[in-house]
Amino acid sequence: MDSIQLNIKQVFGFLSDEVILNQAGHAAACNQALHDGSREGSDFLGWVNLPSSITEEDFREIEDAATVLRTRCDAVVVVGIGGSYLGARAVIDALSGSFDWLQDRDKRKNPVILYAGNNIGEDYLHELIDWLQDREFGIINISKSGTTTEPAIAFRLLKDQLENRVGKEEACQRIVAITDASKGALRSLATTEGYKTFVIPDNVGGRYSVLTPVGLLPIAVAGINIRKLVGGAVEIEKATVPSVSFDYNLPAIYAVIRNELYKQGKKIEILVNYHPKLHFLAEWWKQLYGESEGKDNLGIFPAAVDFTTDLHSMGQWIQEGERTIFETVISVKEPDRKVQIPHDERDLDGLNFLKGRRVDEVNKMAELGTRIAHVDGGVPNLQIELPELNEKYIGQLIYFFEKACGISGYLLGINPFNQPGVEAYKKNMFALLEKPGFEEATKAIKARL
Ligand code: PA5
Repeated sequence: MDSIQLNIKQVFGFLSDEVILNQAGHAAACNQALHDGSREGSDFLGWVNLPSSITEEDFREIEDAATVLRTRCDAVVVVGIGGSYLGARAVIDALSGSFDWLQDRDKRKNPVILYAGNNIGEDYLHELIDWLQDREFGIINISKSGTTTEPAIAFRLLKDQLENRVGKEEACQRIVAITDASKGALRSLATTEGYKTFVIPDNVGGRYSVLTPVGLLPIAVAGINIRKLVGGAVEIEKATVPSVSFDYNLPAIYAVIRNELYKQGKKIEILVNYHPKLHFLAEWWKQLYGESEGKDNLGIFPAAVDFTTDLHSMGQWIQEGERTIFETVISVKEPDRKVQIPHDERDLDGLNFLKGRRVDEVNKMAELGTRIAHVDGGVPNLQIELPELNEKYIGQLIYFFEKACGISGYLLGINPFNQPGVEAYKKNMFALLEKPGFEEATKAIKARL
């Protein structure tokens, strides 16, 4: 299959073949449990067969809604936090031109995609509202629970702004809500206002929802082919069904290796990229693994770096700091564009030895040199290679990481599909803000100040 590849050669100095193969049966059982729902979290396994169950009708409905927003808007604000925005942003950043959004409207093919509701920054919101002032914008408001504070605040502000600018009727055409089928404040609001809505299935958790309308609508609005993206995911879905043997099940191999490294004290996994467009893919991955595995006082800490940028900041620590880390490098074989290093008459920077060679060749040698240096420095290294950055391979990578995360969580012995820990800050915040219903908690927290 024309596919992403997993290269594990650089872990063999740290783990033997035997240690990995010993876990094959265990990993297969975990994969089976994802398919038959026989373990904890079985209510949240809707993502397992999701790619292949998306119908022509589903695609059409998303594409039609995207066309409405693309036709009416110069900018679309995706309002959401965590799993309700990271997947869309990961794919849109990976597959859009780095500077497209700076182009004038008449030269741009796609609306600018902006994000709100993923922080509570007052300056951020003010500056966003300022920027939108004279623009034709729309809103995709995403919240599975429909009650999350950050997006709710942002939406309240942006909805007001939009209605004041274009009137209630036109605003209604430019707002799409993606939420639970029946529950939550956003569902009630959407029903009352008459917004176009999409449903986030009950059995798909936020961080596994990128291939539902949560991710697919913003991605389609950005002009990216969602059919090819889902097509890539379907390929890995099919390549990882329980009947596929461990040796060919790449997510299972990745899950086993990271768990075996963890047992050896490698408590931190650093996801590395050499392609600036993949920064948010790593943010999405951090949420997927952090929220899935960090519980019961267990779990690898998922970190990420952008190389070569961060080689000039974090490189020292990775090379010689505490040896509790391993790296997973996302490598893109062939860039989209070609840039050759020019000849310079005076050669004051001494770079003429590179004349005529591609920038990507330098990047690739930095990547190879760094991998070897880090392995020499005691950092096990896995590599996931994408033949190129396109919809299909990003779709494959998404499902690869989702499947590996489910298997990995079960190998670790936790429920990878809940996130009880994220409630703690919310409870304190509401108590401090004196939200009705939190009176006792308010008294208790104020006594501690
Ligand atoms: O993965 C998750 O479940 C979370 O990160 C949620 O996506 C995030 O908290 C946003 O929740 P909601 O979509 O309910 O607003």
